[in-house]
Amino acid sequence: MRIGNLQFSNNIALAPMAGISDPPFRELCARLGAGLTPGEMVSADIGLWNSKKSKARLRRWGSRTTQIIQIAGFDPLMLAEAAARAEQLGAAAIDINLGCPAKKVCRRLAGSALLKDPRLIARIFRRVVERVGVPVTAKIRTGWSPERRNGIEIARIAEDQGVAALTVHGRTRACRFGGEAEYDTIREIKNAIGIPVIANGDIDSGEKARAVLEFTGADGVMIGRAARGQPWIFSDIKSQLSGASTNDENLSLFFVRDIILEHLDSLYSFYGESTGVRVSRKHISWYSQHQEGGRRFREHAMTVETAREQLRLTRRYFDEFAREAEAERERSRGERSGENGKQQENTEEKEEKEKGCWQIGHERKKSAA
Ligand SMILES: Cc1cc2nc3c(=O)[nH]c(=O)nc-3n(C[C@H](O)[C@H](O)[C@H](O)COP(=O)(O)O)c2cc1C
Repeated sequence: MRIGNLQFSNNIALAPMAGISDPPFRELCARLGAGLTPGEMVSADIGLWNSKKSKARLRRWGSRTTQIIQIAGFDPLMLAEAAARAEQLGAAAIDINLGCPAKKVCRRLAGSALLKDPRLIARIFRRVVERVGVPVTAKIRTGWSPERRNGIEIARIAEDQGVAALTVHGRTRACRFGGEAEYDTIREIKNAIGIPVIANGDIDSGEKARAVLEFTGADGVMIGRAARGQPWIFSDIKSQLSGASTNDENLSLFFVRDIILEHLDSLYSFYGESTGVRVSRKHISWYSQHQEGGRRFREHAMTVETAREQLRLTRRYFDEFAREAEAERERSRGERSGENGKQQENTEEKEEKEKGCWQIGHERKKSAA
């Protein structure tokens, strides 16, 4: 996918999510197939950029991601200044946040609150685009409220002012995260403008990504909450979009374990051990939601204080779980077939062991049912 002068490896984006899509998570998702990985929003007030939180958000880290810095603000000059500083820091593109419904942002008339004021938006786009040499993109919602769905008007303004691509979350500001995302407005926006459009909202599988792309005609998809605890969703979507069958069914338990260990390791090295352990807890919590017996794992993980313990616990959970899965498999085989089938089973079991992995996903769910 091409945005301005930037060529991305594919059209699947990780959503910017404050407190989640930090540099280690972005790097991991990029390794697993995300072609675009915009950063969490930072304030357009560059006086705040020295805080620990903003520094972490702005830090260039990892080798797989193209750094896209997202800025939230309300004042065109401030936003332009922030964009110029972000460019100096090495941003390959600047994304303007016009989608965030958070009170903190809206009270100051930033994020999606700006959708109420198209003229101000036009000034923001103009100032930022004329100030930087890198592509400027924007992330919007479909409008302010279902009654004021002015996404098309905003999209046309964006294109006119030189914005290079637009991400559209299929909800209005008033919808916050309620209800289901709608894709009709995204389709209308795509039909109304010539710059690339990335569709966002409730995309949680390869099938859904394909359906949304087909329905909207959008150039790309963006995945947010569904990537929490399952960053391999990007490889699933990539396979689905390239016509290959998804590998979800064959995801090995040890593959998942190694991803989590890699993620935890990178969090420790990015944040340092103490903060890294704290940040890791929420990711472990999300990972465990997708694993059977994950509650026990989650509860233990919340109590440990060191990186060593967190890693040990993760390994132990997966090793134990693998053993349990094998025992369960043997039990259900035994129940299903009598002595006559024994010989056949032994062969199957041997083959399973030789594969060296246990399956998760649909197959495991079936065997647990
Ligand atoms: C915890 C959280 C933090 C978010 N932070 C940002 C942000 O910093 N910038 C932004 O443009 N959108 C932000 N979003 C919105 C997401 O980028 C995305 O538009 C939204 O989650 C819908 O996509 P999804 O249904 O795939 O999650 C955030 C969403 C969540 C859940």
